[in-house]
Amino acid sequence: MLFLIIVRALLLLEAVTRIHGGNTNPCISQSFGHDSVVCVCNATYCDTVGPLNLPDKGQYVSFLSSQTGARLERQIGEIHRVLSYSGLKLTFNTAKRFQRIKGFGGAMTDAAAINIMSLSHRTQNNLLESYFSEQGIEYNVIRVPMASCDFSKRIYTYADVPEDFELRNFSLAPEDTRFKIPLIQTAQTLSKQPLLLFASPWSSPAWMKTNENLIGKGMLKGEPGNKYHKAWAQYFVRFLDEYAKYNLTFWAVTAENEPTAGLMTNYSFQCLGFTPERQRDFIALDLGPALASSQHHRVQLMILDDQRLLLPYWAKVVLSDLKAARYVHGIAVHWYFDSIAPARLTLEPTHSIFPDYYLFSTEACTGSYFWEKGIRLGCWKRAENYAHDILEDLNNFVTGWTDWNLALDLTGGPNWVKNYVDSPVIVDATKDTFYKQPMFYSLAHFSKFLPVDSQRVGLDGSGECNLETTAFLRPDGVAVVTVLNRGSKDEVYTIWDPDVGHIEAVSPAHSIQTFLWRRG
Ligand SMILES: *[C@@H]1O[C@H](CO)[C@@H](O)[C@H](O)[C@H]1NC(C)=O
Ligand SMILES: *[C@@H]1O[C@H](CO)[C@@H](O)[C@H](O)[C@H]1NC(C)=O
Ligand SMILES: *[C@@H]1O[C@H](CO)[C@@H](O)[C@H](O)[C@H]1NC(C)=O
Ligand SMILES: *[C@@H]1O[C@H](CO)[C@@H](O)[C@H](O)[C@H]1NC(C)=O
Repeated sequence: MLFLIIVRALLLLEAVTRIHGGNTNPCISQSFGHDSVVCVCNATYCDTVGPLNLPDKGQYVSFLSSQTGARLERQIGEIHRVLSYSGLKLTFNTAKRFQRIKGFGGAMTDAAAINIMSLSHRTQNNLLESYFSEQGIEYNVIRVPMASCDFSKRIYTYADVPEDFELRNFSLAPEDTRFKIPLIQTAQTLSKQPLLLFASPWSSPAWMKTNENLIGKGMLKGEPGNKYHKAWAQYFVRFLDEYAKYNLTFWAVTAENEPTAGLMTNYSFQCLGFTPERQRDFIALDLGPALASSQHHRVQLMILDDQRLLLPYWAKVVLSDLKAARYVHGIAVHWYFDSIAPARLTLEPTHSIFPDYYLFSTEACTGSYFWEKGIRLGCWKRAENYAHDILEDLNNFVTGWTDWNLALDLTGGPNWVKNYVDSPVIVDATKDTFYKQPMFYSLAHFSKFLPVDSQRVGLDGSGECNLETTAFLRPDGVAVVTVLNRGSKDEVYTIWDPDVGHIEAVSPAHSIQTFLWRRG
């Protein structure tokens, strides 16, 4: 018996080392005095995950990241027919079927693009590979701001010549042609899947606005259906035309980034105010028809693109109107103030009233609140905040999750109003180096393992549980379970797939785990 156990342990060890010794580079870690570490990358070295090589049926593969320094640490284990102990059991239940995944990614803001371009060519490549390639975490979504936002070095739109209703002087900015577009093109070549690009505007040109300014409280002049609203709708079409010239085709647009910002007195950066009624009428009379009658009629339209606190009210106003609703595909949510807007009062009722419109998360970042402002290199707590929010979203019908800036500098910028925040990738141009933060690996636990069309299934707990969990079935038939432990105790549990067997597991304190196994 002892002999058999030793043989099995050796075989297991062999399997683990074999996979480790493959083509993956480990994390070179560095501490900056916070509760965990960053992984350091430069022109000649960067940690990689490698392609997802799944073991045969009867075994599982797991990936672990933790506060103590594990970063997507890979292990192979046996799936047992019989259970050797009783305790918390999570049952993989394919009889329960929920939403399908669209994807995961981040935003190519002016700031992100400027930071990435500030690195040498080889370092840039390591950064983009980390996000988009099979060696990395396989992002498939990029959000593209239409013209400037706070994460820009200057204030501009694409049509700043006054009273240019025909948009004769519309032109992309150097930020697009020199920075964002070449990087998105490279990301596309590194990705094995088509990227889902979506665009969001912050402000219209000043001459279209009641306050004649890109910042502060202001809306489009007059009423939906008038020449200002028509010109603004046409601006979306022109933007899509111009990007198409660079072979970049969009999956979707949002009607406006944070439309409630422009309703606030003295709002400090680019915005454009819409009440839900205004957004409804603008879509019904202007934006919907403009997109539908253009060559971009397949581009999808998302409403809201603001805090979920506004749900389900905002969706009810826009989608109860058939003239607006027929142009809409999804509802976009941001993550700020999620802790005071429970998912069961916002996401869940919105899904149950409007099941045909997908929910999609379009912006999140840490370091934005005044009590925790800016970057914290190596902060694990922030990785947990990300994983917690993603799990809660996925367990409440959300189909994907988009991070904010793909990369920031050591100040958490550039940002022309000094609204500095944190990012999963922080660039130090003077050292030609970038740091992959715990948040990067938190997102990886979802983006790497949940390809497009993965479907959420049930995961039924046998009792009280300190773990946060979700379960998916991928289009290739592979099962995925992700487990977050935000507590300071290790938790012992079993995952039971009635068709396959038992996975005996331990969730270390302050860790994220993803398990995958073949079922067919
Ligand atoms: C890049 O990182 C590797 C691994 O940490 C290190 O050995 C190498 O010296 C670094 N190169 C530069 C130019 O700093
Ligand atoms: C706008 O475009 C027109 C026609 O192409 C051109 O003649 C004019 O100089 C432009 N105006 C500005 C302010 O750039
Ligand atoms: C655009 O993409 C198509 C198909 O992928 C390719 O054949 C063509 O060469 C690309 N054009 C440019 C300008 O990159
Ligand atoms: C808005 O800005 C104006 C001009 O700077 C100032 O006079 C006013 O007090 C501000 N209002 C609020 C509510 O902050």
